Amino acid sequence: MKKLYIKTYGCQMNVYDSDRMTDVLAPLGYVPHHAPEDADMVILNTCHIREKASEKVFSELGRLRQLKERARDQIGRDMMITVAGCVAQAEGEEITRRAPWVDMVVGPQSYHRLPEMITKLDPAARNSVIDTDFPEEVKFDYLPEEVAHRGPAAFLSVQEGCDKFCAFCVVPYTRGAEFSRSVAQVVDEAKKLVAAGTREITLLGQNVNAYHGEGPDGKNWGLGRLLHHLAEVDGVERLRYTTSHPLDMDDELIYAHRDIPALMPYLHLPVQAGSDRILSAMNRRHTADEYIAIIDRLRDAVPHLALSGDFIVGFPGETDADFADTLRLVDRVSYASAYSFKYSERPGTPAANAENQVDEAVKSDRLSSLQQLLDSQQMAFNKGCEGTKMDILVERVGGRDGQMTGRSPFMQSVYFEGDESQLGQILPMEISEARQNSLTARILTSD
Ligand code: SAH
Ligand code: SF4
Ligand code: F3S
Repeated sequence: MKKLYIKTYGCQMNVYDSDRMTDVLAPLGYVPHHAPEDADMVILNTCHIREKASEKVFSELGRLRQLKERARDQIGRDMMITVAGCVAQAEGEEITRRAPWVDMVVGPQSYHRLPEMITKLDPAARNSVIDTDFPEEVKFDYLPEEVAHRGPAAFLSVQEGCDKFCAFCVVPYTRGAEFSRSVAQVVDEAKKLVAAGTREITLLGQNVNAYHGEGPDGKNWGLGRLLHHLAEVDGVERLRYTTSHPLDMDDELIYAHRDIPALMPYLHLPVQAGSDRILSAMNRRHTADEYIAIIDRLRDAVPHLALSGDFIVGFPGETDADFADTLRLVDRVSYASAYSFKYSERPGTPAANAENQVDEAVKSDRLSSLQQLLDSQQMAFNKGCEGTKMDILVERVGGRDGQMTGRSPFMQSVYFEGDESQLGQILPMEISEARQNSLTARILTSD
């Protein structure tokens, strides 16, 4: 038995990939372990989306070097260090140059080759093995049949890569071209997850609503149709999907929200900015009004839909007036939750070379005004839940004795008094108190 420690950064796709790397390494005798100190293999599954995310990797590698040396000197055991994910893809050679103690570098589309890479390693020679190909073969066809237990709520990647090329974004370069798995493969994996105890499945893709996988009829199916099909799978109680692009929000998907009870009333639909000038410079390919029209149609279909979004402040050339447009859009839409970031220059992306970069201090000011508005909307949304009844999926043991945590249909974290026997159950509860980032509830009993 060998101990495998994986540290995951970035988006849900990396969380999914980390689980699949665990599956790939299981036949070689690796079992998941909770700490790097005494691990035989440490994998950093990295994110390149913003500068801070990438830099974290190198500081972590510094710490791991010490652990590796200690393991070798004190107990004569070799600790293999692997860098996976989007930084690996973007900076493969650079990583082994800056951190020669790294044994393997593997990109997000080639990690099914890890077992083969391990055989090429010679710890005595201290060589590094790098594989950042975008292979001909598709990794999903080479991943092991076995899916390890994932818990009551699990991710399932159905789509990868991106062809949209937003001017700020590294994803098309780190993840490659858009690709959709077949309906049969997705359904097969969903059944395995259910058999292992999963009740809520979140379908993943960098552009998940651009999904166009081959259906059983040989035709390409969209995400709406896939969701209908998955809702029929025995044991799939709840469905979600993320992340979507406004341009791919077609009618079938909008009506899926209305027609599929298992599809939760929550949608993450990033807009990034509210100014048409900035949206165009970002290459988002839609206007603010077009985005709002989509939101209105969604709300016509599902009036209680909770919305979430992503925002970037300080994109090159963004003026105070442009930023005011973002605040106006947020005001108009009203989000239940949101993520907002200062624009970060990413090497190799079109916007990184723009001359009209926005001052850091201006970015900080804008970010705090935007977050203030988004926070107040989130609080108002959560407050509106007080006194209501919801079905909560019990996910984890809470921090305090006798406390459990679960997830509401609207993606809120919910704390309540309960016990471990309730894990994986969907229980009716009444929301007693709202906080900024969570709810408190009590279980409703039938008597
Ligand atoms: N595919 C998704 C987003 C993937 S990246 C979409 O199209 O919306 C997740 C979020 O990170 C983005 O929505 C964006 O808000 C943010 N982001 C991406 N690149 C960034 C950059 N260079 N600087 C700051 N934030 C960025
Ligand atoms: Fe990045 Fe745009 Fe693709 Fe989203 S749609 S992953 S932001 S390039
Ligand atoms: Fe980061 Fe790669 Fe995801 S850059 S956000 S881990 S696709």
